[in-house]
Amino acid sequence: MITVDVELGERSYPIFIGQNLLNKAELLAPYIGKGRVVIVSNDVVAPLYMNKARQLFPLQDVTQIVLPDGEAHKDLDAISHIYSILLAGKFDRNTLLVALGGGVVGDITGFAAATYLRGINFIQVPTTLLAQVDSSVGGKTGVNHPLGKNMIGAFYQPRCVLADTDVLSTLPQREVKAGLAEVLKYGLVYDAKFFDWLAANSRGIGESDSVLLSQTIRTCCEIKAEVVAKDEKESGVRALLNLGHTFGHAIETASGYGNWLHGETVAMGLVMAADLSRRLGWIDIEVARRIRAVLEENFGMPVLPPADVSVEQYLDLMLSDKKAESGKIRFVLLKAIGEGVVDGDIELSLLESTLTAGENLCK
Ligand code: NAD
Ligand code: GLY
Repeated sequence: MITVDVELGERSYPIFIGQNLLNKAELLAPYIGKGRVVIVSNDVVAPLYMNKARQLFPLQDVTQIVLPDGEAHKDLDAISHIYSILLAGKFDRNTLLVALGGGVVGDITGFAAATYLRGINFIQVPTTLLAQVDSSVGGKTGVNHPLGKNMIGAFYQPRCVLADTDVLSTLPQREVKAGLAEVLKYGLVYDAKFFDWLAANSRGIGESDSVLLSQTIRTCCEIKAEVVAKDEKESGVRALLNLGHTFGHAIETASGYGNWLHGETVAMGLVMAADLSRRLGWIDIEVARRIRAVLEENFGMPVLPPADVSVEQYLDLMLSDKKAESGKIRFVLLKAIGEGVVDGDIELSLLESTLTAGENLCK
């Protein structure tokens, strides 16, 4: 097992990464507290892992909440459903919420924990690759609104994160690839050597080789822990971790939540960000081509945005992006592989060229 620490003063916490961790109740014991435990999951993950997860709390009174699966249910109704069960059951401030699932369950549960009785403790037990490398770490919690992705939420850190890599064996291949988009993001924006390593090991990683996957999760968590420790609430460097997301969130919202996987729209957004960086003259065309090739050919990701999102829709949705300031969309772009920058002064004609490039992105 590997432990990566997120250093945030009194809110510091460990990320435990390894095999068979759902059987290691002793790991969680220091983080449980003295109250009742509520495990929140969904109707896909609960049948697979709820019984095992319950055994992590052998001495506690455990309640389970099973939400409907999917991004389309990451909304205020889910939050309200959790509040209703907690209030009806007279759950007090010592209650511990446990998020057992992917990023959707993690974001919902974290937000419920941040707001119930003005804040109760929670633990992340991420069960997708995306959640193990990104969403369970760093304390971004929240839900979608029909007018925008992740628009309602709070920064609220978990007490610890337990990432059991064995659970990835049941994850559909499409979901593994979606998680790898967030993985490649770290390399592109922060660590060129990691990007090269991912490209060189794409076959083994794509086949879910357990050693390579564990190494991948560890590196991502180390990068995320470092960035979050520097800038917990995203007033600076943390914004870089949104590479591809300004485009991706717009596609996700315009297409209807759940039609494209979050990670798939991130993959498209990474290629669009590379394309725009190239149009600005910040990276060479060969670099942009390589980025597209690694995503599309090495990892088999969808990289072309859907043709039915208009420029007007993109601009409207991107202006609601959380990074937008004073009516300006701020993009995370690349000066090189491994070097991201945030810029809010992009010439509209260049942006429109990227939004309409289609098959010609990065070509
Ligand atoms: P998800 O939670 O919808 O999970 C993907 C699918 O896999 C679901 O159908 C789920 O039920 C299923 N599943 C989960 N674990 C499984 C397992 N072990 N075996 C079989 N099936 C399993 O999606 P996701 O990709 O994990 O997360 C995407 C969400 O995360 C988005 O809402 C995105 O906005 C959010 N996100 C948040 C952050 C953050 O910092 N908070 C970062 C990145 C993404
Ligand atoms: N997923 C980007 C962040 O947590 O900041």
